Amino acid sequence: MKISKICCIGAGYVGGPTMSVIAQKCPHITVTIVDINEKRIAAWNDPDPARLPVYEPGLAEVVTEARGRNLFFSTDVDGAIAEADMVFISVNTPTKTYGKGKGMAADLKYIELCARQIAAAANSDKIIVEKSTLPVRTAEALKSILHNTGNGVSFHILSNPEFLAEGTAIQDLHDPDRVLIGGENPEAVQALVDVYASWVPRERILTTNLWSSELSKLTANAFLAQRVSSINAISELCERTGANVDEVARAIGTDSRIGGKFLRASVGFGGSCFQKDILNLVYIARSYGLHEVAHYWEQVIAMNDHQKRRFADNIVQTMYNTVSGKKIAFLGWAFKKDTNDTRESAAIYVADALLSEEARIVVYDPKVSAGQVYADLDYLGTRSPEENRRLVAVVNDPYEATGSAHAVAVLTEWDEFKAYDWPRIKEGMMKPAFLFDGRKLLAANRLPDLGFQYYAIGE
Ligand code: UDX
Ligand code: UDX
Ligand code: ADP
Repeated sequence: MKISKICCIGAGYVGGPTMSVIAQKCPHITVTIVDINEKRIAAWNDPDPARLPVYEPGLAEVVTEARGRNLFFSTDVDGAIAEADMVFISVNTPTKTYGKGKGMAADLKYIELCARQIAAAANSDKIIVEKSTLPVRTAEALKSILHNTGNGVSFHILSNPEFLAEGTAIQDLHDPDRVLIGGENPEAVQALVDVYASWVPRERILTTNLWSSELSKLTANAFLAQRVSSINAISELCERTGANVDEVARAIGTDSRIGGKFLRASVGFGGSCFQKDILNLVYIARSYGLHEVAHYWEQVIAMNDHQKRRFADNIVQTMYNTVSGKKIAFLGWAFKKDTNDTRESAAIYVADALLSEEARIVVYDPKVSAGQVYADLDYLGTRSPEENRRLVAVVNDPYEATGSAHAVAVLTEWDEFKAYDWPRIKEGMMKPAFLFDGRKLLAANRLPDLGFQYYAIGE
């Protein structure tokens, strides 16, 4: 099977960058990314690279190179499906907010809608690739929907989970540790291997059965999140004992069996994947009656919730047990640096806790819009949208954010924060000038020497 036309359903943080790189590296393949969201597609087609809907270092260059040549963005979902030899499903799979498995299981309605749409629009044989993270055995459901449509078209289902991290998506796609492809039909698997082999060394392309591939994605994210929760647990112990969590992380990370990555203590992990995938794993384990397995993984999330809550509590306690009416400047709102994504960002939960203590918050983030900050707070439903707008301001200048603030809280590790004029910031703040560093970002800036009351996670 030789692939000449690919369609990807879903032009989000995963589909957009992944397909752009496939198009860049495979000029012989026409790649069409479709989405039902017209505004999003219009933004992907915007000639001004600054207006792409996803911010990723290097993405604009890749899109500019391939768009119009063999990369297209469209809202014609049916048309693109009909033409393609291979269809990637890259739609969102949020945690369910209703019914059975609420708050735990993945909501598969978007996936099912996709499957039905593919079944209806297809008039020739196709390879269907699961790109979104899905609960184990979703491929089974896809197969069942696709095979029961009776239009005589045959489908092969593959699982090809994406391991890119936001903020480094293009680098991760250009030079992945591995590409994982799960499937039962050897020709279909080979067809997808050939696509990636255009730029990924063959030995880094792993092939497994469908279920191993689906489970590996959940497991990889669960292990990564577990490392963050493990070091965060130690960070609290460090604060009590006088150990320094960075020194501990360095000391253990040099053990090659442990490794040095993902040991940065923080205010808590965020992002669209870690929590969702662990909840998913927990839900699946429980549905098979594996309660110890479920309980074990659940603790990774419990620890993360504790870390976010503890950071907020420490701010209140340190500021003489009250933040009521005080101005707290948030540096960063995104769930990590170099992305405009805010899904599950620790900043949202820390803000929510402080707002419940009647603090006023002023947010500055280099890439996140005011609309997004309010949408995140409104989504929690803790207080009315009017109340959120009364208590929270979003500004475009860090010095405006920190001016006359009682405290500064660092929530995201943006590099630019390190280069700020910290003496000037301190000058403009109320005294004592409190600084709560949720990312251990500013330790090298010698803030205590400048007269800040400086508190960092794990010190
Ligand atoms: C351990 C530490 O490795 C060592 O650094 C420390 O100084 C002392 O404790 P040890 O107990 O001698 O060393 O052996 P280790 O190889 O770590 O194995 C411990 C146990 O874990 C064994 O029962 C081993 O079978 C088991 N294990 C290890 C697994 O079940 N799976 C693995 O992947 C690794
Ligand atoms: C993650 C996985 O890394 C990626 O392989 C998968 O495809 C999707 O989920 P992502 O969520 O984009 O990627 O970012 P990641 O770099 O993993 O960070 C997740 C969260 O953990 C962030 O909030 C980050 O700040 C936090 N983190 C990460 C830490 O607090 N400490 C660390 O040492 C590493
Ligand atoms: P991810 O991080 O997984 O990429 P996003 O939410 O960024 O998630 O992107 C998923 C995209 O999928 C959204 O732009 C959404 O509009 C799109 N989408 C969801 N369901 C469908 C569908 N049935 N057809 C086309 N696009 C869809």
